Amino acid sequence: MQNPPRTSAQSPSPEELINKAREAARFTYSPYSRFPVGAALLCADGSVVTGANVENRSFGLSNCAERSALFAAVSQGRTSFRAVAVFCSAADAPVSPCGACRQALSEFCPQETPVYYAGGDGKYVTTTIGELIPQDSLHGLKETSGKKGAASTH
Ligand code: THU
Repeated sequence: MQNPPRTSAQSPSPEELINKAREAARFTYSPYSRFPVGAALLCADGSVVTGANVENRSFGLSNCAERSALFAAVSQGRTSFRAVAVFCSAADAPVSPCGACRQALSEFCPQETPVYYAGGDGKYVTTTIGELIPQDSLHGLKETSGKKGAASTH
């Protein structure tokens, strides 16, 4: 769905959140792919936490913008999110989160959480975490496994 009309008010707006992701992409460390990506998470408390992709000469260690933002937010005690935005100007079409990031985001985001991913021309796709990672049969695992041990879940 391209730039659909908004049905409910969100502050910041999807466009404003995407703009935060755009600003975050300035801090990309991507000398190997030359593919700068920024991400912005709208936290439950209204704050926005951003991240950029951080690569490594050992390629497998590279971290996507989405997980940079997610891990920064969780490390600050922000574990509930209202929306996710991703910005990448390097591709012809908006770039959606990779499989690893979908899984990581789904740990903290309910399935209805909106995700906006945008390209350099400002056009963006609106979807949800549930659409990005469907048939997630382990979604409730935390609740059941928490009964067996002393795992910390906040
Ligand atoms: N990348 C992201 O940061 N987010 C995405 O959604 C797709 C890919 C990064 C990983 C790597 O640094 C570069 O883009 C090329 O894949």
